[in-house]
Amino acid sequence: MSSAKWAEASAARLPLDDITAALTAHGWWAGEGILTEELTEHLAAELDRLEDEDRLKRAGIGRETDFQLDRDIRRDRIRWLNRESEIQAGFLDFAQAIKLELNRRLFLGLFEFEAHFALYAPGAFYRTHLDSFRGAANRVVSLVAFLNPDWQPDHAGELVLYEDDETTERARIAPRAGTLALFLSEEVPHEVRPTNAPRRSIAGWFRVNASIGGQIDPPR
Ligand code: OGA
Ligand code: MN
Repeated sequence: MSSAKWAEASAARLPLDDITAALTAHGWWAGEGILTEELTEHLAAELDRLEDEDRLKRAGIGRETDFQLDRDIRRDRIRWLNRESEIQAGFLDFAQAIKLELNRRLFLGLFEFEAHFALYAPGAFYRTHLDSFRGAANRVVSLVAFLNPDWQPDHAGELVLYEDDETTERARIAPRAGTLALFLSEEVPHEVRPTNAPRRSIAGWFRVNASIGGQIDPPR
């Protein structure tokens, strides 16, 4: 299947009015059954292939290179998406469709999208964090798509969105295949609760083309 076909079927399921209203009023939105079963199945298979080929790498946190510190904060393994396969291109096309709509409706001036596959082995987590530091104004909207078809409540591993105080829950989202979450990167602290089953997701960021220290889009 062509990448555009992968993207179109899922993009057609986006409740764009709801998304626009929720992002404006609350800074976040999540919906179930957005990505088609076909899309999530192929993305999950792609992630498993990357795992089998030993192409996932331990995720770090910003510029920190202290292994122990990183391990205290997050324990997923990741690989950045590119257009090496039709299915990855399909997901990136889907994100592109979201970007165009967010720009059209909210005038966000989103410019780039970057995303990584993430595999959380049993016991893995990602402690409460913000995806963008206030003022850095680089990552504007965060996206998380889940790829786990048979998720059960006792598997835990929820994505929890918090208020500013990092304690009051805004939402607790099960990582079930098809579910999509969008939230403002600078405003919504969130965490991945320790998972009891292998947990597959794609985390992505819509960015403005911020220039920092004279460098356009400095390397992440
Ligand atoms: C991230 C993140 C959430 C998830 O990678 O920054 O918050 O559910 N991921 O994968
Ligand atoms: Mn995050």
